[in-house]
Amino acid sequence: MDWGMRNRMSRIFKEDGHTVMLAVDHGYFLGALSRLEDPEKTVKPLIPYIDSLMLTRGVLRNCLDPKYNIPVVLRASGGNSILGSDLSREAITLSLSEVIRLNASAVALSIYVGSEYEHQTLINLANLINEAEDYGIPVLAVTAVGKELEKRDARYLSLSSRIAAELGARIVKTYYCEDFQKVVESCPVPLVIAGGPKMKDELDCLEIAYNAIARGAKGVDMGRNIWQSRWPIAMVSAIRSIVHEKASLKKAKDLFNSLKK
Ligand code: R5P
Repeated sequence: MDWGMRNRMSRIFKEDGHTVMLAVDHGYFLGALSRLEDPEKTVKPLIPYIDSLMLTRGVLRNCLDPKYNIPVVLRASGGNSILGSDLSREAITLSLSEVIRLNASAVALSIYVGSEYEHQTLINLANLINEAEDYGIPVLAVTAVGKELEKRDARYLSLSSRIAAELGARIVKTYYCEDFQKVVESCPVPLVIAGGPKMKDELDCLEIAYNAIARGAKGVDMGRNIWQSRWPIAMVSAIRSIVHEKASLKKAKDLFNSLKK
């Protein structure tokens, strides 16, 4: 790895090799989700607790003060909406000159393995990596499932994650699942997990974060389960304790419960 690539990776993954990423890129196909109507209002209080922010260039430019000293991971794929027939039909939506102009630490793109547009999204990933590697910019591949949340099992996620790594992704973002260690074992690059739709009970999400880290994930890249919580700071603090402080699940839950008061 050359200096630039190592430097950008170390902005995301801290000394312990772990990371807490906050994902607020959902608007690229979901529009103004609840609690992201005014992204800065939601994001600003969470910045002290996170290591990087994953978002679109539009939200970065229009809603966040450039003085925030937080590494950003820019969403680089899209071209669909929740109203369309197939969420997998994505293209690359960002140029590398824009990524450099916005001083991003990495770029993120979704792949949809097994979908109608599987080939298109895998070639998107390969093309983005070919360009980004020239500039020392890490590409994070998201093993997306669109509306088919039931696809999230170890066999599928291991297949998608491994393909993303084989194509050259430096980081893979996937989901937690039963037998998650099989996904970790077959993926030669750091894995971070998404949270998925908001769970009813925050403690369930903490359990997923805990189990993922215990089974080898290098961090989380969560969104809705943090900022759609009634207690986002308690949530992100508890997750941070799991990711960076090796907190037990009980300790993380106790921290959440005490901060929520
Ligand atoms: C998809 O909408 C985005 O890539 C999100 O960044 C990703 O799904 C993580 O966010 P959440 O934890 O809300 O699923």
